[in-house]
Amino acid sequence: MNFSLNEEQLAVQEAARDFAQRVLKPGVIERDKHMTYPTDEVRQMAELGFMGMMVSPEYGGGGMDALSYVIALEEISKVDNSCSVIMSVNNSLVCYGLEAYGTEMQKDKYLRKLATGEWIGAFCLSEPEAGSDATSQRTIAVDMGDHYLLSGTKNWITNGGSSSVHLVMAQTDAEKGHRGINCLIVEADWEGVTVGAKEDKLGIRSSDTHTIMYTDVKVPKENRIGDDGFGFKFAMKTLAGGRIGIAAQALGIAGGAYELATAYSKEREAFGKPISRHQAIAFKLADMATDIEAAKMLVYRAAWLKDEGKDYNQAGAMAKLFASSVAMKHTVEAVQVHGGYGFVKEYHVERLMRDAKITQIYEGTSEVQKIVISRGLLKGDLYVPVE
Ligand code: CAA
Repeated sequence: MNFSLNEEQLAVQEAARDFAQRVLKPGVIERDKHMTYPTDEVRQMAELGFMGMMVSPEYGGGGMDALSYVIALEEISKVDNSCSVIMSVNNSLVCYGLEAYGTEMQKDKYLRKLATGEWIGAFCLSEPEAGSDATSQRTIAVDMGDHYLLSGTKNWITNGGSSSVHLVMAQTDAEKGHRGINCLIVEADWEGVTVGAKEDKLGIRSSDTHTIMYTDVKVPKENRIGDDGFGFKFAMKTLAGGRIGIAAQALGIAGGAYELATAYSKEREAFGKPISRHQAIAFKLADMATDIEAAKMLVYRAAWLKDEGKDYNQAGAMAKLFASSVAMKHTVEAVQVHGGYGFVKEYHVERLMRDAKITQIYEGTSEVQKIVISRGLLKGDLYVPVE
């Protein structure tokens, strides 16, 4: 068993850490406060190659492994989770989905621009009445021969306002249930696409989450991903990798909170010594470090399974379930370590605590992860880790 990172992974970690601390940190509190979209920061992430890390160089991507991607997301998520979710959706859901299942035409026309970050993509599955129950799609795509007419409403869409390309799941034949769902590539400036107001959220406040309405949008058939009826499986397969990305985000949030709590506890004195020397605080740090280490093993292993071409559906769900719970639990503890200072924005931990919550909700709630894990267990008897 090899627990070391290779030279490329270490270089990615260093570059992402430097970028997060030097570029993202100075303005993160203000962006969060005013819900300001990080336009310049996303442009710089694109220049550094963070928007299409795993895409083949043939399509303008970085050609890196999933572990490098996870490590980069982890470092960025220690500081700015609006930037990390923009990056995660573009990489794991949009670029991955197109590269793995798109046609040459689709890759040529869309993937190239998405992988370089010239365009940003959105993944449009959730609806006002179809969140966890994702097969109940109300958005419809009527088959008109050489094109579809797309109508419906999508909710909670990350990159909803900034994206040029949407991957939209829609029902084309209700009688077929989930086998009648298709994924269509829609350009944001096509007639009939309307982007609603930006959501005012608890966390990841500067990322742009929107409702998007589609009214009789004409989508050429060549923009359908995969065979007729492949859309739901496409969404599930793509989300399986997306969940590793959100698990990495949660790991970064927990790690960022731990780093802040440790530094503060070494500086802050009470009863004649640094609070880190009081068992009440030292034991909190020990619990944080242990849980973060355990989460890291799950997250890195899920990425490794993906890199090895092995099944990662359950492993990704376990990583997200556990890492998001660690992020929530220990950001609360990190605020507690900071006392009153933890409750004010200047000290960064309250933002990480607010950001942590969404990792238990998006790309499948914790309850959905338990469905994925338990169904896998029942199908294959027992969960057997890869040797
Ligand atoms: N790979 C391939 N196929 C899969 C699959 C996977 N990982 N998971 C399920 N499928 C297939 C099943 O085999 C089945 O196909 P067959 O009938 O042909 O065998 C089909 O999909 C339906 O599967 P289920 O019967 O298991 O479906 P279900 O209705 O019971 O739902 C669920 C299962 C896991 C709850 C699923 O609906 C789900 O994942 N829901 C959550 C959706 C979600 O994660 N939404 C997040 C929105 S995106 C987002 O948040 C992005 C963002 O902007 C940040």
